[in-house]
Amino acid sequence: MNSPLKLINIEKFFIQAGQKIEAVKDANLEIKKSELVALIGPSGSGKTTLLQIAGLLDTPTSGQVLINEIDASKADDKTRTEIRKNHLGFVYQFHHLLPEFSALENVALPLLIQGKSKKESFAEAEKILKEVGLQDRMSHNPAELSGGQQQRVAIARAVVTKPSMILADEPTGNLDSELSEKIFTLLQSLVKNYEIGCLVVTHNLELTKKADRVISIRDGVLR
Ligand SMILES: Nc1ncnc2c1ncn2[C@@H]1O[C@H](COP(=O)(O)OP(=O)(O)O)[C@@H](O)[C@H]1O
Ligand SMILES: [Mg+2]
Repeated sequence: MNSPLKLINIEKFFIQAGQKIEAVKDANLEIKKSELVALIGPSGSGKTTLLQIAGLLDTPTSGQVLINEIDASKADDKTRTEIRKNHLGFVYQFHHLLPEFSALENVALPLLIQGKSKKESFAEAEKILKEVGLQDRMSHNPAELSGGQQQRVAIARAVVTKPSMILADEPTGNLDSELSEKIFTLLQSLVKNYEIGCLVVTHNLELTKKADRVISIRDGVLR
């Protein structure tokens, strides 16, 4: 069975003010379909760098990134963009929704970008928004939604393309504990329903108990 994500011997160095920062050191990781893996670690330990590399938003200094068994490591920018568009979904701490668009339009957008018809994109977006419990809020703009609702829309937007893999960087970092649990459980159920792999950075230890697996990173080293 294809794995949504494989990281093989990933290293990432930054040079800053003439100093070498080893952000990620020889990281190996495989995530399976329907598997939600929590990533924990102190601030500055390399979590975001690892997610950016897995999401093809940054390139490793060395090592391989396989998305759904497609080796993105040596792919050109155009191919990486295609892989991102078709196989990856992202959720961030702040929703990053487009303020001038409705919830429905925000969720339909990734499908429109894929070249799907308006009719199909909006029908699919509506279906996912119902699944996340926002059937009554579809025409609202992000500013007219609560923090929890905004994150539901952001999750719907990440799921709507049925990606191989979702990368979530502290998706509940801005929410209270009760809402965090709801959002985490929602993400988990969508990951199972659509057989998506998921890597989620969290500082909430209660939430890690619900994950299928927990890995930690310290000074760039996974364990
Ligand atoms: N673009 C960059 N240039 C230089 N150093 C960076 C850059 N991005 C991250 N770093 C450094 O890499 C390390 C890991 O950062 P990051 O992945 O953001 O950690 P975390 O998400 O766990 O807080 C830190 O020491 C950080 O300062
Ligand atoms: Mg971070």
